[in-house]
This record gives sequence, C-alpha cells and structure tokens, in this order.
Amino acid sequence: MSELDIITIHPRAQLVDRRQRPLQDLRISVMDRCNFRCPYCMPEDKYHKDFRFLQSHERLSFDEITRLARLFAGLGVRKLRITGGEPLLRPELPDLISDLHQIDGIDDVALTTNGILLGQQAAALKAAGLDRVTVSLDALDPEIFAAMSGGRGSPDKVLDSIDEAREAGLVPIKINTVVKRGVNDHAVLELLERFRHTGVIVRFIEYMDVGTINHWQAGETVPSAELVELINACWPIEPMEPSYHGEVARRHRFSDGAGELGFISSVSAPFCGSCTRARLSSDGQLFTCLFASRGTDLRGPLRAGADDAGLLELVQSAWQRRDDRYSELRSRTGGGEKVEMYYIGG
Ligand code: GTP
Ligand code: 5AD
Ligand code: SF4
Ligand code: SF4
Repeated sequence: MSELDIITIHPRAQLVDRRQRPLQDLRISVMDRCNFRCPYCMPEDKYHKDFRFLQSHERLSFDEITRLARLFAGLGVRKLRITGGEPLLRPELPDLISDLHQIDGIDDVALTTNGILLGQQAAALKAAGLDRVTVSLDALDPEIFAAMSGGRGSPDKVLDSIDEAREAGLVPIKINTVVKRGVNDHAVLELLERFRHTGVIVRFIEYMDVGTINHWQAGETVPSAELVELINACWPIEPMEPSYHGEVARRHRFSDGAGELGFISSVSAPFCGSCTRARLSSDGQLFTCLFASRGTDLRGPLRAGADDAGLLELVQSAWQRRDDRYSELRSRTGGGEKVEMYYIGG
C-alpha cells in the first residue's frame, strides 16, 4: 500500500506541526505580478518596468497546481484561497478554479483580489466553481485610494466589481482594508458607512511588517482597539463568535443590525497559536509562515518526475518541522530576511 493510500483511507490521522497545529488551509499564489503598486507591498521604485518577475514557464502550470492541491487535500486541507500578486492577471484562471473545485475534500474555494479585473470575470469564476471573493479596498476617497494603491486603479472601478461579484453570487463578499496611520486611518468610517446594510463584511487589517521592502515602522500600525473605539463612538459594535476555529478576523456586528465587520490584529493580538495555513508561491515553493525567509521547493521534484508519495513526504516533513510563530515573537526577532507578500500571497 502506498503512503497516498494510507492517507486516503485515514484522512483524519491528522498531520500536525511541532505546536500541534493541523494543516487545514492552503493559499495558492498564481501570479507574482500585480497591476497595483501599493507602497506597503510593491513600491513603484523597486517594482518598476525593468523588474524581473517570474516568466510564465517558471510558474506552476494549472495541472501542477491541481496535482499538489489534491495531495494537500489528502493531508487534511479543506479550504483553498487563490492569491497573487493579483490572481486575476493569470490567464484562464476559471479553468484552474474548475479543477480545484472538483477535488475531493475541498469545501471552500475563495479568491483575494484588488478588484480591478473582477467585474469582467465574476460570472465566469462563479460558473467555474469559485465560492466567494475577498476584495482589497483601502479607501473610497480617490486621493487616499491612490496613496494606498501607488496611483493605480480607482475606487469606482472596485465598487463596480463588488456589485458584479454580488450579482454573480460570489458571497459573502469581504473587504480587506489595510490601515496605515496618517494615510487612511481617518477614512475608515466612510468605508463602513458605504457597506453597512449591504451584507458586505469590511475587515480592518493592522499594517504588518511583511517582507523587507516596505520599511515598516511600528508607529504606522493602528491597533484594532483604537479603531474599535472610533467606530463605537459612531455606531456601537459588539463581538461575535468566530465562524470557525482559528479564524483570522475577530468578528463584530453593528448593534443596530446593520451587519458584520471584522478586525485582523496580527500585530497587537497575534493568532499564531491557531494558524493552520500553508502557502504555495506561484513558482512552487511551500511556505509555512507569511514571514518565512525560505520555503520548500516542490516545483523541482514535481518537474523531475517525483511520484505522489515522494511529494507527500516533502509536504508532510515540512509541516512536521514547522515551529513558526513570527507574530508572537515579533518584538524579539528584529528584521532579517523575509519573503515579500506579493510573491507569497496575503
Ligand atoms: P476567511 O476564510 O474569509 O476567514 O479568510 P481569511 O481572513 O483567512 O483570509 P484573507 O486572505 O482575507 O486574510 C486577510 C488578511 O489577514 C491577509 O491578507 C493578511 O493580511 C492577514 N493574514 C491572513 N492570514 C494570516 C496569517 O497567517 N498570519 C498573519 N500574520 N496574517 C495573516
Ligand atoms: N500589512 C497588512 N496587510 C497587507 N496586505 C498586503 N501587504 C500588507 C501589509 N504589509 C494585504 C493587502 C490585501 C491582502 C492580500 O494583504 O492589502 O488585502
Ligand atoms: Fe498588489 Fe495586493 Fe500587493 Fe497591492 S497589496 S501591490 S494589490 S498584491
Ligand atoms: Fe501563521 Fe506565521 Fe502568521 Fe503566525 S505569523 S499566524 S505562524 S503565518
């Protein structure tokens, strides 16, 4: 009996890391390029027109991604999230969604996008089996939006895409808003006002020290507690139970029944203890933490003809070795080498 057979027969003989955390979510980056230049992720001066992004043959093919995703599902993964860079820049993405959606054991396929290309692709993505989308939107005011996106895109276009996604049924729609002190922190109430009573869930993300090129300074992060106070003074809010164990966002609801919002507080309240996420870069490196400095190469063995048992062994041993808890140790670790977020996905 091969290792794969054993795992298929006993899917709950669950793989855990050195901190007893199971592997449940796989985030797959399908494209390292992006049509935005958010200064906190891909500042224009570094990611200019001569920057060498991956070439298409260096990115995993859809067949390669699907094969790996199937193996991850055999190890306990139930949830897939497609990320970038900007994943909608990857040609024919609905074909990949369709393959992933059909994998046994996968019950949630979601996508994170900046929304610019979503309007035109929403119906095709839904038809292919995508369950839902999360759209990044840092402000409604065009000038503040431009300051956060590096002058690319427009809030109107993102709002149109959100409408298209809702019509296509890619729900619940969530909004990711990175909050940077002095840049968009005064724009959070306007965002909430726009989405109250719409069913769209806005989540405020504490600006993090991912990668090394954004020159993060602790003072630029607005702790969620500050935002809770600001929002409460305008519309009272109350905490809700998480919808699943290890949920990244801390859920809240407006007390007046206008809907849900959330806070992702990885700086002020790290959630490493329940982190069940693995990340696959578009060139097939497996990372066990958003702040990792290196990954495990899966593309090399995949293209060298490794069989399923060999690939499974690589994934299993990477997860069993895993001891990551960067956000909990942040203040003690200092800078160091870290992979960039556009490359590994959010
Ligand atoms: P749901 O399945 O809808 O709950 O999605 P999610 O909140 O897990 O995923 P999403 O991509 O929307 O996460 C939102 C943001 O939270 C990411 O873009 C990151 O900024 C941050 N985030 C997600 N996972 C992690 C993580 O493991 N560690 C840290 N430090 N931040 C994370
Ligand atoms: N801190 C917090 N969130 C970030 N994102 C990108 N870079 C950072 C950072 N340094 C967010 C994006 C998007 C998601 C993929 O990750 O805004 O919503
Ligand atoms: Fe692109 Fe998202 Fe990075 Fe902005 S945060 S540059 S939209 S990948
Ligand atoms: Fe998981 Fe690493 Fe984020 Fe902690 S810092 S929650 S271990 S990805």
